[in-house]
Amino acid sequence: MAQAQAHGTPAVPDNGVAAETARNDGIAVEINGERFVHTGDPQMPLLWYLRDVLWLTGTKYGSAHGGSGADLVLVNGRLVSAITQPMAKLAGKSITTVEGLAAEDGALHPLQQAFIDEDAIGCGYCTPGWLMASFDLLRRKPQPGDADIDQLPNSCRCGCQTRVRAAIKRAAAGKAGQA
Ligand code: FES
Repeated sequence: MAQAQAHGTPAVPDNGVAAETARNDGIAVEINGERFVHTGDPQMPLLWYLRDVLWLTGTKYGSAHGGSGADLVLVNGRLVSAITQPMAKLAGKSITTVEGLAAEDGALHPLQQAFIDEDAIGCGYCTPGWLMASFDLLRRKPQPGDADIDQLPNSCRCGCQTRVRAAIKRAAAGKAGQA
C-alpha cells in the first residue's frame, strides 16, 4: 500500500521538479496540498506528470483513453482519469492522488486499512484506482450497496472484486482496523 510520500519540491531535487518550481511561468497546480509548476509540454497528460516528473507512481496507466479505473485521481474534488487530462487544462486546480489519502503522519486512510483487512489486494496494480473511486463513492454515498460499488469504473484482473466490495463496506461501517 502506498504511504504518503514526501513530494514537496525540496524533497525531490534530482528529477527536475526543483528546477521547474524555481521559475515563475508555467502551469501551477496543487497536488496533495503542495504547489508545483509544470513548465514542460502543456499537452503532457497529468498521469505522466505525476509518474515521470513527480515520481508519484501510485496512479497507474490503464489505457490511452482511460476507463480502466487504474489512473483515477480527484481534480477539484471530481473523479477523473489522469491520462485524459492535459496539464494545460489544470492550471490552478487542486489534485488529489492516492498518495494524498493517508494522513500527514503516515496513518492509513480507513479505506486503505480496510483493503488490507479484507485482503482485497492481489498484484496491487488496480488498487490505487479502486481506492480513489471508493473514496469518491463514500463521499457521495456513505453506506453504499453492492450495486453502487459495482458501478465504479474499476476492474481487477486478479479477481478481487468480491473482497473490494467487503473492504469498501468495512470502511463505510467504520470497522477498518478492527478484527
Ligand atoms: S489486484 Fe491485480 S489487477 Fe487488481
